[in-house]
Formats: sequence, C-alpha cells, structure tokens
Amino acid sequence: MKTVTLHINGTDHTLSVEDNWTLLHVLREELNLTGTKYGCGTNDCGACKVLIDGKPKNSCVQLARNLEGADIVTIEGVSRNGELHPVQQAFVDAGAIQCGFCTPGMVMTSIALLEENPDPSESEILTALEGNLCRCTGYKKIVEAVQLTASRMRGGERL
Ligand code: FES
Ligand code: FES
Repeated sequence: MKTVTLHINGTDHTLSVEDNWTLLHVLREELNLTGTKYGCGTNDCGACKVLIDGKPKNSCVQLARNLEGADIVTIEGVSRNGELHPVQQAFVDAGAIQCGFCTPGMVMTSIALLEENPDPSESEILTALEGNLCRCTGYKKIVEAVQLTASRMRGGERL
C-alpha cells in the first residue's frame, strides 16, 4: 500500500492504494466517480478516458500510485454551475448519444481536442477519436457534435 494524494476535479483526495490499483479502480470503486466507464480494461476502447494534465488518457492503464501531483479531470468535473459542458450539450443536441456507455470517454477526448485545436477538420476529429470505440452510433453524429461545438466556439461560446 502507498498513500497518495490525487488531485481530481479540483479536489485533493488522500487515500491508501495498492500497487496494482489503476486510476479507473480508484475513481469507480474508492471515490464513487462512476461516470468514467470500465469497458475493456486493456487500453483498447476509450470508455475510461479522463484528462491527466490536459491530455486524454485511458485510466484503466494508469497506476494510481504514479499520479501524485497530476491534474486529473473526469466527466464529473466538466460541468459548470450545474450546466452541461458545451461538448456535452452538443452531444445531446446532435443526437450523438445512444446507449451512452462510450459518451464520457468521447466527451473527454473531444474536450482535449478542441482545447488544442478549436477548429478541427473531420479527419482531425476522426483521428483524435480513433481510440474511442462506439458500438451504437456509427460515429457520424459524434463527429457532428464536435463540429457543432467548434461552430458554437466560433460564435463566442467558451469551452
Ligand atoms: S476500459 Fe480502458 S480502454 Fe477500455
Ligand atoms: S452510444 Fe453506445 S457505445 Fe457509443
């Protein structure tokens, strides 16, 4: 066991972690932050994506004991004042959510993309999302949701 302080969604959480505990385990099983999903557990599906120091990472392959001092953001941390994040709202408005299992990971990857590139092309969006698998939507509406967010940002909306 090791005691670590994890900075998650702006709050420090100090807890004892086993050497093999992943960040995903800590989020879901220790902190009850279940918006981050367990899909494959093998770094393949992106359902467990969170932002670590601004970059989208699969939390199922990040060891919690290595993340002291990192800035971790999960899907629970993206809304502001009870309002959906603009990317979440665009996913709703574009009809990009079916079963919703992939959606938190898709949203986290899309936020990271748009923060780095506020006007991505379709192929840049597809490239950014290639580590996020969706069994339901066929991806078209997900791409449209990212494009809708980008167009709203051009109209003055802030991420
Ligand atoms: S659960 Fe982490 S990549 Fe699938
Ligand atoms: S909406 Fe069902 S897996 Fe993407």
